[in-house]
Amino acid sequence: MTEAVAPRTILALETSCDETAAAVVRDGRVLLSNVVASQLDAHRRYGGVVPEVASRQHILSLAPVVEEALAVLPGGWQDIDAVAATYGPGLSGALLTGLNAAKAMAWQRGLPFIPVNHLEAHIYANWLEQAAEGTAVAAPPQFPLVALVVSGGHTLLALLRNHGDYELLGQTRDDAVGEAFDKVARILGLGYPGGPAIQQTAAGSSSGGSNLPRAWLRETYDFSFSGLKTAVLHRVQEQQEREQKVRAGRARSEARRGKNAPSTGPAETAADPVPPALSSNFVAQMAHAFQESVVDVLTAKTVDAARRYAATEILLAGGVAANLRLREELRRRAADLPVRFPPIALCTDNAAMVAAAAFFRFATQSSSDWGRDVVPGLPLGA
Ligand code: KG4
Ligand code: ZN
Repeated sequence: MTEAVAPRTILALETSCDETAAAVVRDGRVLLSNVVASQLDAHRRYGGVVPEVASRQHILSLAPVVEEALAVLPGGWQDIDAVAATYGPGLSGALLTGLNAAKAMAWQRGLPFIPVNHLEAHIYANWLEQAAEGTAVAAPPQFPLVALVVSGGHTLLALLRNHGDYELLGQTRDDAVGEAFDKVARILGLGYPGGPAIQQTAAGSSSGGSNLPRAWLRETYDFSFSGLKTAVLHRVQEQQEREQKVRAGRARSEARRGKNAPSTGPAETAADPVPPALSSNFVAQMAHAFQESVVDVLTAKTVDAARRYAATEILLAGGVAANLRLREELRRRAADLPVRFPPIALCTDNAAMVAAAAFFRFATQSSSDWGRDVVPGLPLGA
């Protein structure tokens, strides 16, 4: 084994949730291949990720995904210097499939094995060269940095002093932001995954005067989104009650007008058990108000932390970093402080970010960690 030499070309696997992914990255920054097999269709009918379904899908997809990721290399496996995989946080069964496969592949070929923290990986998507949209090859981020990680399972704000040297400044006390997007989308009948659906529905609309609450949790960098989700639910119920009253009134006056017409019975005037469909205007206003509330709190706290800790840049990461309104507002409020975010394909789960994190992790750790097991609740910085 050549463990003292830093591995230049890393093959990484990512199976922490519902994406089976493999990628090859050179020097922690150059993306050579990035293959993602999404399981969205397998989970869509359940309105969320089913752990057992996820594990099974990973087992089916891993081999073809790895093969495709290696196909870009002239020497195939010969060109790989190390293998990396996510070991947490995530679903234990799902994590196990990728971690064990990666260990086996590395062991068989005498290559170093690098376990990676999924949260750290999301942040390292910002080191990949094509990460800075609209620019050619951007210089890598310079420490100290403040990173906002917002995904379906996590919401946290961290101070990064160096590679591997992180301080957790705050995190969500209940729902993750992406989870809130998904739950609110379900309440509004917008389908799954909720983030893109809410963004699209909110675009071109206004909140129409329906301001939703913000949980500021002052004096902390913590977040809370479950109250906001409940507020949306209450507004929807109130709206449905209003519509139901209008419906009942209309039915009564029609019944009065058509006294001579043959009656269809008392059911006509009773409350309809099926809640009335929400108007598209109301749904768009709610989606807009919800997104504004989330973006307001996230951007205010992130910019505050970046200024307090004299960060050179703000890094945005995780699936919700794909949100265009969040990107735009963060840039606006950060003003002269640069804000960096990955292109959309590297915001949601992928293995390129795992390979990038593995490269910089190996630089500080420089040995394989064969004994590492999955850690479903792994925090950042562990
Ligand atoms: O990072 P990710 O792929 O998986 C986790 O590690 O959780 O994030 C998925 C989450 C989902 O909740 C999805 O609704 C959200 O990211 N998401 C978005 C957008 N695109 C994806 N949320 C808001 N706006 C978007 N455009
Ligand atoms: Zn993720």
